[in-house]
Amino acid sequence: MNRIEAKTGQSIDFVKASLINPELVESILELPELKRKLSIIDIGSGDATSSQDLLNSLISADRRIKNLALVEVDINIFPELVGTVTTEPINSLSTQIIQAEKRDLVAEFLMQFEEKYDLALSQLVLNQIKSDSEASYLMYLAYRALKPNGNLFIVNLHPNYLQYLAHNEPNKFKLADVTNGRMVGTYNFDTSGSAQVYSRSIESQVAMLLELGFDFVKIMPITTEAIADQKPRYGNLAEKGVPMFYLMQLRKNADNFISSTSGVVQKIKPYKEQWIVVTFMDGDEIKVPRFTDWEKVNNGDSLILQETYRREIGTSLLNYWVVNPDEEVIGGQLIVQTK
Ligand SMILES: C[S@@+](CC[C@H](N)C(=O)[O-])C[C@H]1O[C@@H](n2cnc3c(N)ncnc32)[C@H](O)[C@@H]1O
Repeated sequence: MNRIEAKTGQSIDFVKASLINPELVESILELPELKRKLSIIDIGSGDATSSQDLLNSLISADRRIKNLALVEVDINIFPELVGTVTTEPINSLSTQIIQAEKRDLVAEFLMQFEEKYDLALSQLVLNQIKSDSEASYLMYLAYRALKPNGNLFIVNLHPNYLQYLAHNEPNKFKLADVTNGRMVGTYNFDTSGSAQVYSRSIESQVAMLLELGFDFVKIMPITTEAIADQKPRYGNLAEKGVPMFYLMQLRKNADNFISSTSGVVQKIKPYKEQWIVVTFMDGDEIKVPRFTDWEKVNNGDSLILQETYRREIGTSLLNYWVVNPDEEVIGGQLIVQTK
């Protein structure tokens, strides 16, 4: 079995290089106020080969990479990741590698690198994340790391592609469950290895990102036309007009952000009818509306709160995440005020 493929699905490198990278580069180069020196954060970078492909393309288009942050959860891939970014020529003036699961490292990173990045990327990552809270927490990290008006580019497998496979090639994608537009199944790579796929509907993905304070810019399907002659599947998909991926662009709008706070919980107590008082280890105290599962928050858990405002519906939202010492994330959101 190809070890890297079994771990992350990296063997679809050809498809990534031929289909995803060109679309991503074009969308980035089209940004109206794109600077010459760019700082980029890649969330779920894998072995960073896709990040490097992107940097090479941007450098060929006369851009320079000031900072590159690679956020990855799989510690086993770190040697390859470090190998990629230390291979000559070194394409970024400064590179930060962050282990996503170590929330204290992430918090430390955010303190130093908050609002430092022009572009955030998340390529084929959200499809691998089972928990909605974990997925929204990662995108919150992107929001915090981006400069005001910075852009987030997300690439996922297109739900239509997974539906196509489930009907026409069940050995390639074995669908196990569909609930509220969310498909769960096993994706088998052509050579060997497989991965669980959690495909959220595009609508729910957009809703989650708007709630975090992003503005939606565009979504584009990525079709297999350019590689139609490489495999019968790519030819069939191109002929039937079924896109393999989608690329979504969002922009951080600082006007949607109200406040955020976080800390390690010392105690949490009910307050009045609908509220709780949280005391953090550093002695700070905050009052917040009661959220689902607040009674499950324990001493020593981290609590992260972010309040955003959606002017379209005149509503403020409170996003919350609770991370326990085993690094499990639960979370959700409350509507705190509607005008
Ligand atoms: C299919 S690979 C894609 C890698 C890379 N983005 C690319 O396009 O080549 C998905 C990567 O996301 C990482 N990942 C999954 N969940 C993550 C999380 N919660 N935080 C950070 N990375 C995560 C996996 O470990 C894996 O390396």
